[in-house]
Formats: sequence, structure tokens, C-alpha cells
Amino acid sequence: MDTKEIKSKFNSLFGNEFRVYTSSGRINLIGEHTDYNGGFVFPGAIDKGIYAAINPNGTDRIRAYSMDYAAMSEFGMTEADAPKEAWARYIFGVVREMQKRGFEPKGFDTVFAGDVPLGAGMSSSAALESTFANALNDIYNLGIDKFELARIGQSTEHNYCGVKCGIMDQFASIFGKEGHLMRLNCATMEFEYFPFNPKGYKVVLLDTVVKHELASSAYNKRRESCENACAHIKAKHQKVNYLSDATMSMLDEVKDEISNEDYMRAKYVIGEKQRVLDVCAALEKGDYETVGDRMYGTHYGMSKEYEVSCEELDYLNDIAKECGVTGSRVMGGGFGGCTINLVKEGLYDKFIATAKEKFNARFGHEPKVYNVVISDGARRLE
Ligand code: GLA
Repeated sequence: MDTKEIKSKFNSLFGNEFRVYTSSGRINLIGEHTDYNGGFVFPGAIDKGIYAAINPNGTDRIRAYSMDYAAMSEFGMTEADAPKEAWARYIFGVVREMQKRGFEPKGFDTVFAGDVPLGAGMSSSAALESTFANALNDIYNLGIDKFELARIGQSTEHNYCGVKCGIMDQFASIFGKEGHLMRLNCATMEFEYFPFNPKGYKVVLLDTVVKHELASSAYNKRRESCENACAHIKAKHQKVNYLSDATMSMLDEVKDEISNEDYMRAKYVIGEKQRVLDVCAALEKGDYETVGDRMYGTHYGMSKEYEVSCEELDYLNDIAKECGVTGSRVMGGGFGGCTINLVKEGLYDKFIATAKEKFNARFGHEPKVYNVVISDGARRLE
């Protein structure tokens, strides 16, 4: 994204001294709703993000201008002085979470904008948190390590935005590296970079452009189901700290103690753990057919067991299957947003044309198409 407009807006509002920072949205190849269950995720940062010009203002207040909302928010750094605007709470939350950890960022002025589509499941909010976490850490020499920066973003979601999310999005946004996906073990936080350049294939996102209401409360409810199933298993198997530590037979032992709904949620999570491992092994051999097969497996599980898909996403998945696309599934939290598709280059044009036509005929608008470019995460630009 060109940062010219951000800079000239900063100039007109606050003067000509500033630094520019950015952080990215993310994709996730596989490993969905596994992060808060101590499982594996396989994300990468993308070439769409949030960009911010920032400068300390010598006060204990923050003046933030959002180019996308064409709106200013001014707020303090205490709970009593929180912003009213939902978008500003992400910035406020980052500041508060830093303070809670004993760090002392000071007041600043900022102008920011983004090109991560909102509500599309590409984590625009993590990009926003990571941009500011990284920028404040740098500007005030706070010395916060990268994992803690990611946790600051995650706690912002928990405590200021009402989503009890896992660590995947903020991790990807902070640690992202051009041309690489990252396999993260969310129980130990060990991770590995995987070069990702599937020869002969394209990775494309199809955005339903729908975001269903109550997505965050439904998300939190899924998390509760998992924690409940895990607690029952732990009562019998003390070594199980996260649901991802459990096996299907352990889950079956507690089947009668938990609701069918909780059982189905847990079944999905345990299955998803194996799918991520299968994909990693297949990638090392260049076996994209297996990668694609597991992606379809994830879609089925998210739709029928975890129940976070929707009509529009299921339809895009059906179209992909009919066209012979190698792999396709709902990406991110669900309840709308995108499918991620692994498509042979020779099939790409036909798939996109068919998806647009059929989706439009049924829902009255075309899906948006985003080609994925794996890029760097949080950084200072100038
Ligand atoms: C959202 C959350 C993540 C993760 C995904 C599902 O993006 O923010 O922590 O749980 O959903 O994998």
C-alpha cells in the first residue's frame, strides 16, 4: 500500500515528524481453532496490512485518526479515559496491556489506514494490534520480546474487544516472513519456518463478503465447549492439559458425560491436529494432493462438526470440489469470510470464472478474489 496519503494526513493534522510502521494480515493453510486448544497452526503473513504514521506528542493522551473511517478518536491511557469508538479500542488495548505488564509507553499522535479486507477472516484486527505493539516497543525502547508483543495483541482481543481468541493471528502478524509459512505448536510456542512456493499451483482466497452477526459470541462458545470436553478428559488422564493432547479414544471415554455438541466440537479439534501433521509431511515431499485432501477434510469438520461455516462458504467449497480444485476450505474463525483454495495453475481461470458466475446466480453478488502473496510481518518502514 502506498503510504503517501497517510503521511500527508499526518502532516496536516500533527506536523511533519513521524515514523511509519506496518504489520500484516494472515492466511492459514491448515490448523483452524486449534490454537486455543494447544494444537498446531500453519499461518503466514500476507501482503495486506495496516500502516501507521506515529509520533510521541509529549502528553499522556493519544490522538488517533483512522483514514478508513475518516474519524478521529482522542483518549487517555487509563480505563476511565477509554475511547468510545470500537476501532480505537484496539490501540487503547495495546497500550493498557503494555502497562499491565509494567511497560510505560507515553502519549502519541497517529494516522493509520489498512488494506486488509475487514471481516474477511484475514485478521485485520491482529494487524492493527501488531502494528501498534511493535511501533510503541520500538519508539519507547521498551525491550518487549516478539512473543510478548503477540500476547499483548491477543490480550487486547480478550479484554478490550470481547473475543477469547488464540495466539495464531498475532503470532503470524508479528513473526511473518516473506515466502514462508510457519508451523507453530501453540502449547509450547515452538515454531518452524517452511518455505512455501507450491510449483504449478496458486493459492487464492475467495471472499464471500458476508460476516454473520454474533461471530464473536459463537467463537467464545466453541472455546467453552473445548474447555469443557478437555476438563472431563483431564479428570481421567492427568497428562492432558489441552484438548489437542487427547486422543479420540480418550474423548470416547467421556462421551456420555458431555453434550453431543461438545463431543462434536472436540472430535473436530482432535481430527484437525492430525490433518496439520499430515500436511507438513506432505509438503516436505511436494505431495500437494494430500495437502488438498486434508484441506477438504478441515472444511467438512468445520462445517459439520465444529459448525462455524455458513451457506455461502459451503457453496464455494462445493464449487471448488466440482471444478477439481486440489484443496479448499473455510479459513480463519468462520461464520463468513473467505475460503482458501489450492488450485492448479491450469485450472485457475476456469475455477474463478465458475465460482463468480455460480455464486452470483445464487447470492446476487460475486465473491471477491485475492491472490495470496506471503510477506513479512511487523516492521518499521521509515
Ligand atoms: C480467529 C482467532 C484465532 C484462531 C482462528 C481459528 O482468527 O483469532 O486465534 O482461533 O480464528 O483458527
